[in-house]
Amino acid sequence: MKRSKIKDIFSSGQAGGDVLVQGWVKTRRTSKSVTFIQITDGSTLQDLQIVVDESNPGHEQAAGLTTGCSVSVEGMLVDSPGQGQKYEVQAKTLEVLGGSDPETYPLQKKRHSPEFLREIAHLRPRTNTFGAMARIRNSMAYAIHSFYQERGFQFIQTPIITASDAEGAGSMFQVTTLDLNDPPKNGNVVNHEEDFFGKPAFLTVSGQLEAEIFALALSDVYTFGPTFRAENSNTSRHLAEFWMVEPEVAFCQLDGLTELAEDFLKHLCGHVLDKCPEDMEFFNKWYDNTTIATLKGIANADFERITYTEAVDLLQKSGEKFEFPVTWGIDLQSEHERYLTETKIQKPVIVTDYPKGIKAFYMRMNDDGETVRAMDVLVPRIGEIIGGSQREERRDVLATRMTEAGMSHDAYSWYLDLRSYGTVPHAGFGLGFERTVQFVTGVPNIRDVIPFPRTPKNAEF
Ligand code: 4AD
Ligand code: MG
Repeated sequence: MKRSKIKDIFSSGQAGGDVLVQGWVKTRRTSKSVTFIQITDGSTLQDLQIVVDESNPGHEQAAGLTTGCSVSVEGMLVDSPGQGQKYEVQAKTLEVLGGSDPETYPLQKKRHSPEFLREIAHLRPRTNTFGAMARIRNSMAYAIHSFYQERGFQFIQTPIITASDAEGAGSMFQVTTLDLNDPPKNGNVVNHEEDFFGKPAFLTVSGQLEAEIFALALSDVYTFGPTFRAENSNTSRHLAEFWMVEPEVAFCQLDGLTELAEDFLKHLCGHVLDKCPEDMEFFNKWYDNTTIATLKGIANADFERITYTEAVDLLQKSGEKFEFPVTWGIDLQSEHERYLTETKIQKPVIVTDYPKGIKAFYMRMNDDGETVRAMDVLVPRIGEIIGGSQREERRDVLATRMTEAGMSHDAYSWYLDLRSYGTVPHAGFGLGFERTVQFVTGVPNIRDVIPFPRTPKNAEF
């Protein structure tokens, strides 16, 4: 017999038919003559109840089952007389596939702290929270591809190992095969000519520069892959390894880009509400009882658009005591972003036209010579969820910006070439996948929305 997924049993099972189900025991309760076992196979948040009565040859084994054991059960699907479930399975045969020592199995019926669960990341996918989180990540990844595919964007795979620093922020992990205890040297400096790539190489912080190459040939492209940042920021919103979605669009300026960002976020929120109602109810109940209402609100309301200069003005007039005082030219901190989107405007805000001094070299210079065509999308609870810009397509202006930023024109000659041969206005952004999962679920710490978080001093599993 073919294994049925518990999800399919609840959505399309027929009482009276035989089924084969396999999964892990959540709880077991034995009364005089019957054993009730709740099992999960991760296909849905709902457990399936297995009923084994005394006359069943497997009853003794069933009565000894503990949390975490794996079982294979064949039996008849029947309407459940009990509360809270539509069906249960009257077991005919029950096989224990793997035992689980109750003395050492770390998951109990009670709620465990997120910190404890991070230490057992190999078992936490069995909890309701991590099952729901994994299904929501999966559904959102699908929605990301379907959004761009339906709009005729090409999915581009950009390199993970690179010699360029796309953000110019210098927070990159170096990739080397040199012996760190005894590297080859030219005088006092390490000789990277002997390194694997013949020069210093790094893990990418963004696929943007390579995505631009393809946008300037295929017009509408996107990437979706892992990116790496060696910032020593131990916050609830930063990971050293995270996933980013980066659309890049030719013949597009900042206005077109803000529209794409708004449509994209609305699509993701709508998709998750539509496809993961049970898991969303779970997060709404246990993590943040406003998250479903917030997502519905996003689908229906237009995002606010303000310039950086207007944002600074609103912050200065707010009367709030911020830890970091606000003056024109500072980078907006999380507290400022959250004030704007949560308190002042109470919906997603797109902030544009930031001072050039706090943004990357590739952003298009405005006529004022002071600000660039940048945009950040801010959402409640998270702050910045998307960062992007129109790109500098004028070769001479870009070359000046690169010189100011101390960048080698030689190393980035290919990036300048794109502006010499058929340059066009183009724009793109990056959406942080984990920040989006955090936003959607209401889970407070970014370490709990990725299967295996990488943060300073932590790369377990
Ligand atoms: O604003 P960022 O740094 O933009 C770029 O990397 C551009 N090259 C994107 C582009 O224009 N194609 O990063 C984009 C987004 C942020 O808005 C945030 O959501 C997420 O990536 N992000 C992080 N998420 C988790 N941990 C970190 N350390 C992150 N740094 C950025
Ligand atoms: Mg940013």
